[in-house]
Amino acid sequence: MHEDLHPHGEGSDSVAQLIETGREYPAESLQTASNQIRLRCTSVYQRNWTRVGVGMAREPDSGESSRFFLKQNIGKNGLWHDNHWEYEQAGAIIAHKLFSHLVRVPALRYKNKSLLLNVFDYIDVVTVDEQLRSDPVCFDGSIASVIGKMVQVLEVMRQPPAEVLEKNLPVKHRSYGSPGKAVCFKGFDIRNAGFIRMDDGRLNTDDLAVFDFVRPYLAPIEEAAAKLFVSIGLLNWGKPLSRFMQGPDLMLLEKALLPMAPYMDKNAVQAELKLQSTFRTHEFQGAGRLERAIKRLGVDALGKRYLRKLARWCDRHIN
Ligand SMILES: Nc1ncnc2c1ncn2[C@@H]1O[C@H](COP(=O)(O)OP(=O)(O)OP(=O)(O)O)[C@@H](O)[C@H]1O
Ligand SMILES: [Mg+2]
Repeated sequence: MHEDLHPHGEGSDSVAQLIETGREYPAESLQTASNQIRLRCTSVYQRNWTRVGVGMAREPDSGESSRFFLKQNIGKNGLWHDNHWEYEQAGAIIAHKLFSHLVRVPALRYKNKSLLLNVFDYIDVVTVDEQLRSDPVCFDGSIASVIGKMVQVLEVMRQPPAEVLEKNLPVKHRSYGSPGKAVCFKGFDIRNAGFIRMDDGRLNTDDLAVFDFVRPYLAPIEEAAAKLFVSIGLLNWGKPLSRFMQGPDLMLLEKALLPMAPYMDKNAVQAELKLQSTFRTHEFQGAGRLERAIKRLGVDALGKRYLRKLARWCDRHIN
């Protein structure tokens, strides 16, 4: 399969150890391999493409105990994503450097290559799509400011500093968009943004965290904008069924288009829609055949109609 069709790269059967609750794992600091920590895994959750968890460890310098976010590159189907482990690091390091003055980007702190494990500072985050489902009123009240912040991030991506351009990132030549080279990230998606929960349990809707940037590459800025825009159109995708059935929120798309208009290009959006459509109608992640079959049925019944509606709206409203 063409790598571009796959949001997370190809998988391999190579075997590493799965992280489990209650066990301890070593990890080394990014800069100096001699700086080691031992992480005690306190919870773990298998997602479609990654296995994530929480780990506690004593910091080598201060001796303080800290909480970390663990991310292992193994999918629900049991395939390991070796390349993705490196892309994850490259994306996290560049994004942290470029956007930390605008949004909270969790710092990548430690790694363990043999476990395909990356270790980030833990941030108590409620993602935008989780909030849409759990508290739609709060979502409505805060989404404009989220989009505003993401547009500021886009603006930084449009003109990357020399140190990023010098990194020999892959260059994607596209038939659309402006000629300049922006730094894009494969994971630039509204679902990878969220609000930070404060100590008293309330959400700080002024404090946006953005994570899961994954592979950085150079391409027209319109590609990054298209990724973000289409992901906003796909916020209703998935569970619960009632929301999935509604299809894209057209009022929200209108709201998003206003600040994003300077970065939008119809052909870039079409390309992203095609990618999402291929991916979502062909790739079904599931632990077993039954789970995959149910997902396939859902996409056949609702997903194709959803994608058609989104494509039609974009065709009519984006120049
Ligand atoms: N640094 C962090 N600290 C705490 N929780 C985090 C952190 N980064 C991400 N999360 C939470 O874990 C979830 C999964 O993380 P992430 O998006 O990086 O994984 P993923 O499996 O690659 O996601 P995707 O669904 O995009 O494939 C996020 O949606 C968020 O709720
Ligand atoms: Mg994610």
